[in-house]
Amino acid sequence: MCGIIGYIGPRLAVPILLEGLKAQEYRGYDSAGVAVLENDEIRLIRSQGKIAMLEERIGGEIGSATIGIGHTRWATHGRPSDINSHPHLDCKNEIAMVHNGIIENFVELREWLTERGHVFASQTDTEVLPHLMEHYYHGDLVEAMTQTVERLHGSYATVALCKHEPRKLVAARRDNPLIIGLGEGEYFFASDMAALIQYTRDVLILQNGDIALITEEGVTLYNDGKQIEREVHHIDWDRTAAQKGGYEHFMLKEINEQPWALGQTLKGRISGDASAVDLKELDFSPEYLKSIQKIAIVACGTAYHAGLVGKNIMEKMLRLPVEVDVASEFQTRDPLVDRHTLSIIISQSGETLDTLIALRECRKRGSKIVAICNVVDSTIAREADYVLYTWAGPEIAVASTKAYITQLMVIYMLTFYLAQHMGKADHAELRSLISQLYRVPEAAQLAIDMNDARAQELSQRMKDQSSAFFIGRGMDHCVALEGALKLKEISYIHAEAYAAGELKHGTIALIEKDVVVLALTTQSALQAKMISNIQELQSRDAFVIGVTMEGNEAVSKVCDTTLFLPQIDERLAPILSVIPMQLFAYYCAVVKDCNVDQPRNLAKSVTVL
Ligand code: F6R
Repeated sequence: MCGIIGYIGPRLAVPILLEGLKAQEYRGYDSAGVAVLENDEIRLIRSQGKIAMLEERIGGEIGSATIGIGHTRWATHGRPSDINSHPHLDCKNEIAMVHNGIIENFVELREWLTERGHVFASQTDTEVLPHLMEHYYHGDLVEAMTQTVERLHGSYATVALCKHEPRKLVAARRDNPLIIGLGEGEYFFASDMAALIQYTRDVLILQNGDIALITEEGVTLYNDGKQIEREVHHIDWDRTAAQKGGYEHFMLKEINEQPWALGQTLKGRISGDASAVDLKELDFSPEYLKSIQKIAIVACGTAYHAGLVGKNIMEKMLRLPVEVDVASEFQTRDPLVDRHTLSIIISQSGETLDTLIALRECRKRGSKIVAICNVVDSTIAREADYVLYTWAGPEIAVASTKAYITQLMVIYMLTFYLAQHMGKADHAELRSLISQLYRVPEAAQLAIDMNDARAQELSQRMKDQSSAFFIGRGMDHCVALEGALKLKEISYIHAEAYAAGELKHGTIALIEKDVVVLALTTQSALQAKMISNIQELQSRDAFVIGVTMEGNEAVSKVCDTTLFLPQIDERLAPILSVIPMQLFAYYCAVVKDCNVDQPRNLAKSVTVL
């Protein structure tokens, strides 16, 4: 994933481009660059490293430009370096372009262009774009862009600046996000609203196949060779939502926002008398509901872990088989999905390419698709038959927290909704679960308050540890997987999650004195077995941190120390038990002085295969 910015208007471009890049740095942060038009020439400044390094390199260098483009990169083709940074130029330094996505046929295009005398400077796939533009440009930027994108296989959001048309920017999009901010006599391009919010709240969201031309007079859109109109969206996000709000890191802010975010997810989706879940977004007919024989959940990473909780709760309540796949594997196994399968696609960003491809595969096989997304109007949200938004607000930290917890909330609501409408619900039981759902935001706040200081204290123990284990059974195992992922991705401590019963089939060989094991034990039916597993670890001198409900002495007395959760119906426990995992991972990363919000090698959304 990369971040794109563009500006045309009366103001100085460089400060706007830099601010826009900073707001999108979470999308990629291994190099950055800007290109502006100044004194009729393209001025290009790029730098490997963070945007701060680009800023330093620019210094006072570019004084008067009022049009330009910028890019923050997460490397795919070509390692991070000055030369591989965007924008890229054509042979004559007349066209500069930025790109987010992957040009899959760039090798063939590069050969084709080389045969025609083009010379390449970088190892990137992107560099074919300005050279193709150069080849097709004969005085009409839109025509050149149209012919250029016709040659491409793959995904792109791209913006071009051309020396011969100094008051124009032209852009195109397929499968990667690109929005246009509409100001007064000024216009912006960006990959994410967060970059534009301080300038305008009115945006056009480009759709697949769109080509946009912007000048100071306005925006003209084309698709399939014809001029088209698109609806203007008004964004009412609070600007501070995209800032840290006094926290040291976005991740800690987002962990603390979870009670609020859960409330947002619930809002308007429970009937007035709290007896039913009301998902107005869904309009399944009774015949369709009767025809469902199976549920397929597909997602990546943290969203996949939310899907695993979904399998547990849905199978329990709906008595239907539920398969959960990581999207990258789903494509490889000729999945058994058909019109009797309801597919649930989970993605915070709504742009993860593997997940998007899985969605399309499900559609091809005749399945109806419900997407659970956070980013409004993202590609996955648009391509699904139905979208259940999580309404968690922008998630900026690369490690997902509030998106995961709100995905769980949606999964529970969807399960209860299906149980109601498929006649699988015991009304009294459902009423009790729904009233517990109402309590979740408040219980999440308690879980934060009960564990913040304890997690910080325990993180000291991890300072010099090279690994940790997370164990649990049933739903607890799903949360253990998420706990381990959080720890490894931000603190770089090797972490493994195990179904507690599997430990003795090999992994227990790694347990020795003082190895830290987090043992999640929230399910009463599985508690006796968990206690045996904890004792097996204790007899090998591991340091066991229990995670269980407040007052559960049977568990706390066999653990070295315990992180407690507020009481809740244990079927909803994953929503709470992940909170101490997130806090533990966060403080471990802080103690090790890691870059919490932007861990190495990661990007917020993976829009490549
Ligand atoms: C981990 C994390 C990733 C994402 C995964 C899917 O903290 O954030 O594992 O969950 O890349 O991203 P989305 O949900 O945007 O499809």
